Amino acid sequence: MKIAKLFAAVLVLIFVLAAVGCAPKATPAPAQPAAPAAAAKKTYADMTLCYPQLGAESDWRTANSASFKETAAKLGVKLIFSDAQQKQENQISAMRSCIQQGVSVIALPPVVETGWDAVLQEAKDANIPVIVVDRSVSADPSMYAAHIGSDMVIEGKRSAAEFNKLLPNGGNILELSGTTGSGAAVGRAKGFREALNANIKILDSQTGNFTRAEGKPVMEAFLKKYAGQIQGVFFHNDDMAIGAVEAIKAAGLKPGDLKMVSVDGTRGGFQLMIDGWLQADVECNPLLGPQVMDLGLKLMNGETIVKEALTDESVYYPDKAAELLPTRKY
Ligand code: AHR
Repeated sequence: MKIAKLFAAVLVLIFVLAAVGCAPKATPAPAQPAAPAAAAKKTYADMTLCYPQLGAESDWRTANSASFKETAAKLGVKLIFSDAQQKQENQISAMRSCIQQGVSVIALPPVVETGWDAVLQEAKDANIPVIVVDRSVSADPSMYAAHIGSDMVIEGKRSAAEFNKLLPNGGNILELSGTTGSGAAVGRAKGFREALNANIKILDSQTGNFTRAEGKPVMEAFLKKYAGQIQGVFFHNDDMAIGAVEAIKAAGLKPGDLKMVSVDGTRGGFQLMIDGWLQADVECNPLLGPQVMDLGLKLMNGETIVKEALTDESVYYPDKAAELLPTRKY
């Protein structure tokens, strides 16, 4: 009996060993070629943004520069900022220096519309996208990635609509225009003329270069030349209106003697409305930093973007000026 049991145990053992020996060996899977790693999404920390600011001619411009500096600091964007002192050649050399440094994006607020083709081509050749900011350029849209800013023609039309209400029986007015050849001055002048009633005549138009310092003497000369002949003045920006009001006060005129409309909606413009000098202020928004950096990041990540992004703006009036002034950011 014992022998039979031992024989059975040996048989089981032989069977188990045979089974283990015949089992297919676990062979490691052949190495697969690694899947291509998805390109890591770029973040604001990867962005070097070049902003060759055109100058510091107005409160609007100061607010625009602050918007870029504050947004860059908040988002961790490296900002290369310069001030071209209203000279196109300075903006072009600042752009060339940025191209040499290999920045990620250039945001260009062009002082004038023409003369950008060569440097835009250089940026294109270096694969650096250019976002045109605020004013427009006359270059073909294929030369830049996008434009973000105001519709200057609409601002001119809105200003004309105010004069049509202020002078329903017509009259003579003067225009203090912005920097000659700038998209802001060209667009505002165009829209203004398109929408102004035929019974309102523009007797004269001179540039005050968007500054208080130049607005004042232009207004002084106007008041001498057209004394007693004018009912209103259109200003392409608030700074020129502020300079001109000094001349108007010095000439002995009182608030309301001339109907006046300006563009920007700065705190200075609001104060002119509160003091009775300005009857309407057409908004032009300078706080473009967040929108430009958002677009810049999209470009860096190869995302599709809107070619023309126009800012949503309105018109302000004296009746709400005192209430709104404390809320104004510029
Ligand atoms: O391009 C925007 C214009 O430039 C603003 O109206 C003016 O104030 C600034 O200087």
